[in-house]
Amino acid sequence: GLPARVRIHEVGARDGLQNEKATVPTEVKAEFIRRLAGTGLTTIEATSFVHPKWVPQLADAEELYPAVAGLPVSLPVLVPNARGLDRALTLGARRVAVFASATESFAKANLNRTVDEALAMFEPVVSRAKAQGVHVRGYLSMCFGDPWEGVVPLPQVVKVCRALLDMGCDELSLGDTIGVATPGHVTALLTALAEAGVPVSTLGVHFHDTYGQALSNTLAALQQGVTTVDASAGGLGGCPYAKSATGNLATEDLVWMLRGLGIDTGVDLGRLVATSVWMAAHLGRPSPSRTVRALSHQ
Ligand code: HMG
Ligand code: MG
Repeated sequence: GLPARVRIHEVGARDGLQNEKATVPTEVKAEFIRRLAGTGLTTIEATSFVHPKWVPQLADAEELYPAVAGLPVSLPVLVPNARGLDRALTLGARRVAVFASATESFAKANLNRTVDEALAMFEPVVSRAKAQGVHVRGYLSMCFGDPWEGVVPLPQVVKVCRALLDMGCDELSLGDTIGVATPGHVTALLTALAEAGVPVSTLGVHFHDTYGQALSNTLAALQQGVTTVDASAGGLGGCPYAKSATGNLATEDLVWMLRGLGIDTGVDLGRLVATSVWMAAHLGRPSPSRTVRALSHQ
């Protein structure tokens, strides 16, 4: 069966914008997040407290976060290490996310660490956050395929999931960073995780839409009991440290499917489309979302 309700974890302002070459003004980002909050989305990832040289687009996290902190929504932020957590906690962040990799190649490219070194870097971050009552999400990238290593073996993914949960992460997000997953693979991974004793209630899915499979993959995940789905308004996105990573599953495409299935998200689709059209005008190119195109005149 399918769930009655799905929580959308909106990543447009973080995953969506992090790869944009031209710097988006902080006030435009803040207005984007305000408009997203106005659509009924309840979890809106705001930014990352990473090294500004690694992700220049998000170098304004110290200015952006306070500009949106008062909104009545959850505003998770990415923190790779102790320095990132310090920066986030100083500004009052109550939800943070660490981001691990299932593959050595991406751990090196994204975090300058081996998989185990990255986990060792997160351990004190997670325990300090938890000690302060801060909610921690653990992202796991390259759960399906890796641009350097090819198909990623299921046990490798299960092992890192276990490590993230054991260190105290409240929820995990299974990332198809380069968008190569297909529904059978999604079912196989979720089955392997269930067999390893990982509760499906701790799992979210994070699909990029490179091969147009993100929505099909999401449906497969819902059928396995997943109720948290990451998506990016207008289908913005891509990862600067993974070649061939395109935008995330578009939030509008997700809402359209869920609405048709009678699954409640609390999101006003018309307002969301208007927000993505507004953002597309700022970025100077139309949204790649089919639903945005169908419901707007852009
Ligand atoms: P490093 O070069 O190994 O850093 O990078 P380090 O620990 O050796 O420190 C070097 C310098 O950086 C030091 O300064 C630190 O203070 C400073 P110095 O002493 O030389 O003056 N530094 C920082 N400054 C500000 N904020 C910080 C910070 N940390 C260190 N947090 C590091 C290691 C983790 C910092 C770097 O690799 C990094 O920032 N990586 C972030 C990459 C990233 O953000 N990628 C995108 C997000 S992941 C993603 O998109 C995938 C996802 O969507 C899921 C999916 O699709 O799969 C989540
Ligand atoms: Mg991503």
